Order: sequence, then structure tokens, then C-alpha cells
Amino acid sequence: MKIGIIGSGDVAKALASGFLKHGHEVTMGTRDPAKLAEWAKAVPKIRIGSFAEAAKSGEVVVLAVKGTVAAEALRGAGAANLAGKPVIDVTNPIADQPPTNGVLTLFTNSGESLMERLQHEFGAAHFVKAFNSVGAACMIDPQFKGGKPTMFIAGNDAAAKKTATAILTEFGWETDDMGSAEAARAIEPLCVLWCIPGFRQNDWVHAFKVLR
Ligand SMILES: NC(=O)c1ccc[n+]([C@@H]2O[C@H](COP(=O)([O-])OP(=O)(O)OC[C@H]3O[C@@H](n4cnc5c(N)ncnc54)[C@H](OP(=O)(O)O)[C@@H]3O)[C@@H](O)[C@H]2O)c1
Repeated sequence: MKIGIIGSGDVAKALASGFLKHGHEVTMGTRDPAKLAEWAKAVPKIRIGSFAEAAKSGEVVVLAVKGTVAAEALRGAGAANLAGKPVIDVTNPIADQPPTNGVLTLFTNSGESLMERLQHEFGAAHFVKAFNSVGAACMIDPQFKGGKPTMFIAGNDAAAKKTATAILTEFGWETDDMGSAEAARAIEPLCVLWCIPGFRQNDWVHAFKVLR
């Protein structure tokens, strides 16, 4: 598949490398392509462009920017370049303030989620929340003694969730579909829980698993 990644941080780089490893074509979008020049030397098949070029080139779009600027980045990508496509939304609504005893603050509340806001503004795109409840270093082919970890997903479009599930399966995950976009209200705060062991005892290597 052709993948367009909006973002250039740790998540964008990890997912870009993962997609390339699994045989996909990747265009990574940033406002400043020059800053990726050094990194891109070690990732020969990567293409670098603007947010709009990445979104336009992707059959599947991945949104991996700072939560506070997610809507702004999508406006830069262009609604027309997202229309009808699955948009895998990795963002978390983390507020710009330091954690309190390891606990981050969100800029959303329990009755809304960042993904719903984005879905509302970009109505023709098919958002799927995914990959937000684990660290970038564990996103691709995770190896845990406890077995395959679980990634929770949510979104309104069944075909887009099928695509996200296929990607998660390829990347070594079990997928647990929590239903429509409103479920992002429960999935996004998992990032707060996931980060606590990191801030408290520098433990950033773990993932959630559902047992049945
Ligand atoms: N880090 C993790 O392990 C992890 C794990 C799961 C989920 N997440 C979530 O995934 C997202 C990406 O995280 P990250 O750590 O990779 O990177 P990040 O530092 O949160 O975000 C970097 C990206 O944000 C973009 N950005 C910053 N300010 C902007 C602005 N004013 N307008 C448009 N774009 C702007 C940057 O664009 P330029 O390229 O143009 O500079 C860059 O691509 C976040 O929402 C985070 O909460 C992170």
C-alpha cells in the first residue's frame, strides 16, 4: 500500500520504518523536510514531502503529530487529500503541562475525544484511533514475554477499521475493536496510564493485553 504519514517525530519515524520493513511505500510529511535529511540517509526508500504531499500520496494516511496541533496539521494536509481514505490517528490529546506524580493531563474531557473533533471537522475522512496506547519503540513487531499485545481501535467506518486491523496484524498486534468514534473517549486516556511507569520508574517497555 501507499502510506502517507503526517508527522516527523518518533512515532512517524517508527511507523515509517515499520511500513517500509513490511513492503509498503511511504511518504512522510513535515513542515521542514530539511530536518529529516540526516535520518532519511539511513532509510533509503523513504520519500519526504509536505503534509499535503504525504496525505495526497497515501491510500492510507497516518496522523502522527502533537495532539494540540492535530487539526492545524490536517488543515495543512488538505481535507480533499484525506477524503474517502482511512486516517490512522495515533495522536493523544496531551496538554502542554508537566505530569503530576507521573500523571499527564489531557486537554479533552470524558465526554469528548480528540478523534471525534477531527472526524467532525474532516467529515469525509475515515478516522481510526490506533497505536496511541503504546510507545513508539514498541509499535512494530513487539516482543513481550507475555505474548502478543492488544491494540484498541475505534472509528465509524468498517472498511477503514479493516485496513487498520490488517496493518496491526502485520505489525504483530492483536486488535480489539471498541466500536464507533465515541470509544476514542476511552482509548485516548490509556496513554496517560501507559506513561505512568515511564515517568515514575523509567519503564517505557510494556503494552496492554486483554485476557478472555
Ligand atoms: N512518542 C510516543 O511514543 C507516542 C506513542 C503513542 C502516541 N503518541 C502520540 O503521537 C503523536 C506524535 O508523537 P511524537 O512523539 O512522534 O511527536 P510530537 O513531538 O508529539 O509531534 C511532532 C510532530 O508535530 C508536528 N507539529 C508540531 N507543531 C506543529 C504545528 N504548529 N503545526 C503543525 N504541525 C506541528 C511536527 O511537525 P513538523 O514535522 O513540521 O515539525 C511533527 O511532525 C502525539 O500526538 C503523541 O501524543 C506518541
